Amino acid sequence: MAIERTFSIVKPDAVAKNVIGKIYSRFEEAGLRIVASKMLQLSREQAGEFYAVHKERPFYNDLVDFMTSGPVMVQVLEGENAIAKNREVMGATNPKDAAPGTIRADFAETVDENAVHGSDAPETAKVEIDFFFPEGVCERLR
Ligand code: PPS
Repeated sequence: MAIERTFSIVKPDAVAKNVIGKIYSRFEEAGLRIVASKMLQLSREQAGEFYAVHKERPFYNDLVDFMTSGPVMVQVLEGENAIAKNREVMGATNPKDAAPGTIRADFAETVDENAVHGSDAPETAKVEIDFFFPEGVCERLR
């Protein structure tokens, strides 16, 4: 199976709850390696551009408010089938629908503050990695 990279965000609610380490452990336990990582405070411009695909949806402004309400951790995860595996570990978008043991089931309560983001396809993973790591991601020493 191919080694992939995917993009991930630990959102402001999870950073405020002090569970970055616990969430990173979930990635590692699933065989995903953190190959780039940084904490940052998103500007409204950055959050608006990142979520531009949802611009026409009723929750867009609240989503931008939330994503700029405090610091986030952004990371690149690498592993076999990383995009699908990360989405499995995250659980469903709405924590109420998330399978037991997933990040959203364990660390989030609502669909609008749901702890993590993960790319949904190879094309979006590339765009999202380049958006937050324009300097590139180091090749891991193997
Ligand atoms: S859905 O349910 O299929 O529309 O979800 P999706 O298109 O994958 O992602 C929607 C992103 O917007 C965030 N968000 C909400 N989604 C649905 N309803 C409400 N009210 C809402 N508020 C915020 C949701 O967390 C998804 O964020 P990301 O970061 O992409 O996972």
